[in-house]
Amino acid sequence: MPSERPGKGLGAYLPPIHDRRFWFTQGLVLVVSIAHAVVHIAVGGLPDVLVLILYTFPVIYAALEFGFRGSVATTALIVVLSLPFVIHDALSGVGSDFVGHLVELAILVVVAPVVGRVVESERAARRAHEVAEIRYRALFEASGVPALVLDEQGCIQEANPAAASLLQGELQGRHLSQVLGMAAADAILGGDPPQRLDVSSGLALRPIVSAAVGEAGERLAQVLFQDVTEETAGSRRTRAFALAVLVAQEDERRRIAQELHDEALQLVVELRRRVERVVRSSPPDCAGGEELLAARSLADAVIEELRTVAVRLRPPDLADLGLTASLERLVAEARRRGTPAEIEVEGREPALPPDFALSLYRVAQEALTNAEHHARAQHVGLRLDFSDSSAVLVVEDDGVGFVVGDAAASEANAHLGLLGMRERLQLVGGTLEITSAVGEGTTVAAAVRL
Ligand SMILES: Nc1ncnc2c1ncn2[C@@H]1O[C@H](COP(=O)(O)OP(=O)(O)OP(=O)(O)O)[C@@H](O)[C@H]1O
Ligand SMILES: [Mg+2]
Repeated sequence: MPSERPGKGLGAYLPPIHDRRFWFTQGLVLVVSIAHAVVHIAVGGLPDVLVLILYTFPVIYAALEFGFRGSVATTALIVVLSLPFVIHDALSGVGSDFVGHLVELAILVVVAPVVGRVVESERAARRAHEVAEIRYRALFEASGVPALVLDEQGCIQEANPAAASLLQGELQGRHLSQVLGMAAADAILGGDPPQRLDVSSGLALRPIVSAAVGEAGERLAQVLFQDVTEETAGSRRTRAFALAVLVAQEDERRRIAQELHDEALQLVVELRRRVERVVRSSPPDCAGGEELLAARSLADAVIEELRTVAVRLRPPDLADLGLTASLERLVAEARRRGTPAEIEVEGREPALPPDFALSLYRVAQEALTNAEHHARAQHVGLRLDFSDSSAVLVVEDDGVGFVVGDAAASEANAHLGLLGMRERLQLVGGTLEITSAVGEGTTVAAAVRL
């Protein structure tokens, strides 16, 4: 039985004269008043408390049906109809009746609006709740995003149509683990939902969990499943492209290393052999002897340099050797060159994807080279830290340091080492952090998530 809605502003205070139920209430007041008059004439009046109780019925009915304006209008009619009794009592000099009537009216005048207001605000709150519930339900039912509502034990209390068609079969009443598997259910209920969940339909979903409250105040959890199939495929494509770039770059380096070795190096070796032959066949104090010896040393130096470059260009066999052993070799070579480098390894090296291992290797190589060329360090430390979920490489020196922002600006020129490190890490979804300050050494930290 919907009641007439009060308007806004003045309308909220006007009696609902277009509603028949309002006139029914006023009729009730009239009946009580006539009965009061008849009894008054016949036997000299009714007890005030009884009159008050009889009037209370229409007032409360009006308050329940129409709120504040209903209760006030009804009370106003009661006051008007009671005036003849009050005036009669006043004129007939029956002081107690007069006071009784006044108290009766005063109680009604005070209580009626309060009851009206309370009823009105209760009703407004209930209406707001109903509207919110209707909106929520419409959203829940019509949403294309699969959604489940779980109780505290993880049983499905509600599932929207999108969830029903995605997860197939009857969902209500089943435990989440029966639908998504034990591991996924444990992670979701434990508050640490997985970033990606592969379901049988071939979709990749990301569960988003939020707290909810049931009608009886019990704690619930709402789980929305965001479709990340495209995103996942996109990041797979990016990974594949990054891998292809790395592989192509390393192939190119290997080819250049091979060419250096097979051509340039062989030419210089031949040159050195000829110089050596001339040195041997010339008398010890012949003219130009010194120059010949210098040319031989120069040829030795070029051979050494070409070999070093070729070795550095050629990627080590990381799959066979592993990252740890490859970095140990790198450090041993640096020590042979007189660099005070050391390596420390925490944890056991897991089977790293080849692009991850190569990126970390190249970062270590560049950071070590930078330390050798620029830092003038007393100590260079390489640290590898393996856990189940990550591999972290830290290269630290106690050298002269530099302003990282300035170096980043110089990356735009010819210095590509730092830039290359960053890009390599980005390609494999890792992070690179370079910390340095003039006089305070440098730390390069690279991390990849496994
Ligand atoms: N460990 C370090 N200690 C001090 N300065 C460093 C260190 N690493 C880098 N720098 C500074 O940052 C600059 C940029 O380094 P980056 O590796 O990008 O270029 P580069 O080593 O000069 O040249 P390349 O392109 O051959 O690597 C360097 O020129 C050097 O001034
Ligand atoms: Mg460099």
